[in-house]
Order: sequence, then structure tokens, then C-alpha cells
Amino acid sequence: MSSAADVLRQRLGGLAPKAALVLGSGLGGLAGEVEQAVRIPYGELPGFPASGVSGHAGEIVAGLFAATPVLMLAGRAHYYEHGDASAMRPVIATLAELGVGTLVLTNAAGSVDIQIPPGAVMLIEDHINFSGTNPLIGEGDERRFVGMTTAYDPGLKAAFKAAAAVTGVKLHQGVYMWFSGPSFETPAEIKMARICGAEAVGMSTVPEVILARFYGLRVAACSVITNYGAGMTGAELSHQETKDMAPVGGARLATILRHVFREGLG
Ligand code: HPA
Repeated sequence: MSSAADVLRQRLGGLAPKAALVLGSGLGGLAGEVEQAVRIPYGELPGFPASGVSGHAGEIVAGLFAATPVLMLAGRAHYYEHGDASAMRPVIATLAELGVGTLVLTNAAGSVDIQIPPGAVMLIEDHINFSGTNPLIGEGDERRFVGMTTAYDPGLKAAFKAAAAVTGVKLHQGVYMWFSGPSFETPAEIKMARICGAEAVGMSTVPEVILARFYGLRVAACSVITNYGAGMTGAELSHQETKDMAPVGGARLATILRHVFREGLG
């Protein structure tokens, strides 16, 4: 059987993707901006996860985004779907095999900081893995001891900040804390997250960052803030609220991303 990388090489023709972009909630529309798009369902790629959170099958949309050869990944596996923190490993391994040097991750997240309101965009400066697991558990190779000091690439961070300044989009910066989900946090957990130094909480991204560093990809990540964390407003949290609010910050983040890619990714 052909590997996912073989299938992709065949489908991509001469395209040599420089970066991959994981489209979180609110960013799905960006796939429609890819020029000369080639769409490859995850189902055709051995090892890729079967379905995502909204029940949609995932797909890769390959082509040119802001004049840059890219793979957009519409659909990711979450730890809470199956209890497998390494579910995205075949995806990230395939990117590395194809020579994709940069991974840009996006997600929807809750804010722990009253100064970062719903609709805001936050560049992830660093993370706290509060899930109790790690996608590299069971990996035998010595390379499993991955350094995380500069997991979020300094050059890419600078490129995002510069893009925000040029485009006039407010870009917050902060620490993202990974909770397993799928239940939302309690008010006590949100208070703890704040005391621990987090600005945002969410249920994704961190395993992909760890895997990407394991495979040597440069990483940047941004959160679209959809709500204040539990207990901050008195309102109950819902997945519907996440889905309704994600496009607001998503449009802001899209503006930054177009600029970052157009400028050559730091
Ligand atoms: N908590 C965890 N994940 C989330 C949230 C939240 O409040 N909002 C969107 N994703």
C-alpha cells in the first residue's frame, strides 16, 4: 500500500508545499482562497484521522495561498474524541516526509484574561500541557526528549506581530493551557489556569506542537477567542457559542495569515 506521502506526492504534481496550516474553528473558509486547489480527502491518506469534531470528514486543500505553496489541513483529531494524544502523528509525520518546513496551527479557545475578549486573536507565545498525557508516550527513539524552550518559533512570532502591526489587527499574546476536554473547565479550573500563568484554555493544538517539534518543523499557533472562561461572566458555556463566535476572530486572524504568508513566513 502507498504511504500518505506517496499519495500526496502523486496528487500534488510539481507543487512543493512550504508550509501547512491547520484550520481550526472559524478558519475553514480560508481553504476557499487556495488557488489551483487540489483537494485530497483524509480517507485517501493512510493513517490520517477519520473524522473531526463537527462530523465532517477532513481534507487537505493544496495549492497557493498568498502566493505560497501550502497544504491546508481542514479537520484535526482531538484527544477527547478517542483518548489518543498521538492521533495526529501520521499527519505531522507526512508533512515532515514531504519536506514541509513550517506548521501554522489555529484553534478556538476560551479566554482567562478579562483584557482578551471574545472575538480577539491571540498569538500563542508558549503553552502549559495540563492534560496529563503526551503524544510521544511510547516512542522509543531518544529523540523523544524534545526540547520545548523555543517550541513556538521566535522568527515566526515576529512575523505574526509584524503582520498584525501592518494590517492594523489587534494581536494579543499569551500562554495556551491544554485541557483534555470534552467537558468545559470549571470556574475553579479557570482560576487555576490564570494563577498558573495562562491567558487562554483549549482542547487542541498542544499535541500537534509537540509532534511537530519532534519531527523538526517550525511552529506558530494562534487562538481565536470565542468566550470568556467558565465563571468569568456567569453564563454557561456551550459548543454552539464557540461555533457562533469563531468566525469573528477567524476573520481577523485570516487577515494576519494572508500577510504572514505573503511576506514569506518569517
Ligand atoms: N475551554 C476550552 N476549550 C474551548 C473553550 C473553553 O472555554 N472555548 C473554545 N474552546
